[in-house]
Amino acid sequence: MPLLEVKNISKSFGGLQAVRSLSFAVEPGEILGIIGPNGAGKTTAFNMIAGYFPPDTGEVRFKGENIAGLRAWDISHRKIARTFQLSKPFGDLTVLENVMVGGFHHQGSRTAARRKAEEVLGFVGMTDRLGTEAHNLTVVDRKRLEVARCLATDPELLMLDEVVAGATPTEALAMMEVIRKIQERGVTIIMVEHVMRVVMGLSHRVLVLHHGETIAIGEPQTVSRDPVVLKAYLGARYGNA
Ligand SMILES: Nc1ncnc2c1ncn2[C@@H]1O[C@H](COP(=O)(O)OP(=O)(O)OP(=O)(O)O)[C@@H](O)[C@H]1O
Ligand SMILES: [Mg+2]
Repeated sequence: MPLLEVKNISKSFGGLQAVRSLSFAVEPGEILGIIGPNGAGKTTAFNMIAGYFPPDTGEVRFKGENIAGLRAWDISHRKIARTFQLSKPFGDLTVLENVMVGGFHHQGSRTAARRKAEEVLGFVGMTDRLGTEAHNLTVVDRKRLEVARCLATDPELLMLDEVVAGATPTEALAMMEVIRKIQERGVTIIMVEHVMRVVMGLSHRVLVLHHGETIAIGEPQTVSRDPVVLKAYLGARYGNA
């Protein structure tokens, strides 16, 4: 049985249909990449799966249970975690405190939450930032903090929304290593990412969204050569080539 099965979910904002009847499944242990031009509906899909808002139609099945329409809180308790593309940490709190806040309800006690926060911050390479107030972090460190915040909840499914955006090539490699290690620990991952080197290098399969619809899904090598995908990215210029 797939860990996650999304069936025909749609979302409109006023007259704009951001996601149209999207369906896909994620197998346990898999890394599924989701790519697509700006505005394709990637973050909207994450928001529906994570309960940030409900889909207008369709089902989101996690371990067989339909979780569509449940609140973010209830979904997080089912061990699904997501990073935010625009992270909003508590600026006056330290890095350690930010992760403790996120993990507290999952860990039970303050001591356990602190231990877990230190462990996951070490895992993402932020041990030297524990006492830094979050408003002083660079963009890349904010992304690391987002990942650590998610890991503190012990997710079975982790959804990463552009955690490599804004990174230098060296920082991108370090983040790739972190993502690979998370997967090796048995966590299933869906990653939305624009940095092709990263998403193609890590994903077992890649889904391409365009105007809210799937235009391709398959192994990275196949998808990256698909003429329909190339056309979506290059737009009209491709048609004239
Ligand atoms: N809360 C909202 N209210 C109104 N419109 C929205 C909302 N969220 C997204 N949209 C619109 O829905 C469409 C899809 O947006 P979405 O953020 O899902 O795209 P995306 O694929 O994540 O893009 P990007 O790569 O730029 O992050 C866009 O046209 C966007 O403006
Ligand atoms: Mg987005």
